[in-house]
Amino acid sequence: MNAFDLPNASRLHVSADADALAAACAARIAELIAATLAQRAHCRIALAGGETPRRCYAALRAMPVDWGRVQVYFGDERCLPVGDAQRNDTMAQDSLLRHVALPATHLHAIPAELGAQAAAARYSEWLAQAGALDLVLLGLGEDGHTASLFPGNPALQRAEPAVAVFDAPKPPPQRVSLSLATLNAARHKLFLVAGSGKRDALQRIARGEALPAAGVKDAEWFLDKAAVPVS
Ligand code: 6PG
Repeated sequence: MNAFDLPNASRLHVSADADALAAACAARIAELIAATLAQRAHCRIALAGGETPRRCYAALRAMPVDWGRVQVYFGDERCLPVGDAQRNDTMAQDSLLRHVALPATHLHAIPAELGAQAAAARYSEWLAQAGALDLVLLGLGEDGHTASLFPGNPALQRAEPAVAVFDAPKPPPQRVSLSLATLNAARHKLFLVAGSGKRDALQRIARGEALPAAGVKDAEWFLDKAAVPVS
């Protein structure tokens, strides 16, 4: 294995394949939730969207998590109707949330069906009331985006807790995302990255390119071997 490293990563964990990655990441998430609950009444976690987390969320269902003390938020959401199959909260419901004993009042979905501006304003109010997140799960796009913070997009410069995103290159164009400030204010950040399609973005981050995902400091990176760039 080549000596691959990421700047500002607090931890780099490489699994043999996507299934091993899902298991390792689920175990780490359960461990971080338990560690938080040993010190606090609740654990506030923001889930990642896209497809990669699906296996990890399925593995998390079997983990010993005290869901009655977990508050679930989202790192971003696509501006689509409630229940749309392409929404990130739909994926989280299907793979995890409807299978665990999470109280309905602990599910804080982004109201992206309201449109980007209104939803971002409302979610910013909720996040301001909630305080810093304990754990944020993040994915990595092939262009180096994370959550819905895309390269060159004005949303990257915004500092509100949640920001409206327009002209996203990954459909749909309208989204809501936690801001980079909110992501970095989380106590723990954990990236979950799988597949050779992410090699280029990882290589660019390793070389110091200021891609949006590189803006999340002091994160734990969980990769599968296929995603690791071959130098
Ligand atoms: C989204 C996600 C996005 C995702 C990456 C990786 O709305 O699509 O929030 O940031 O995490 O694009 O997506 P995959 O896991 O599907 O490769």
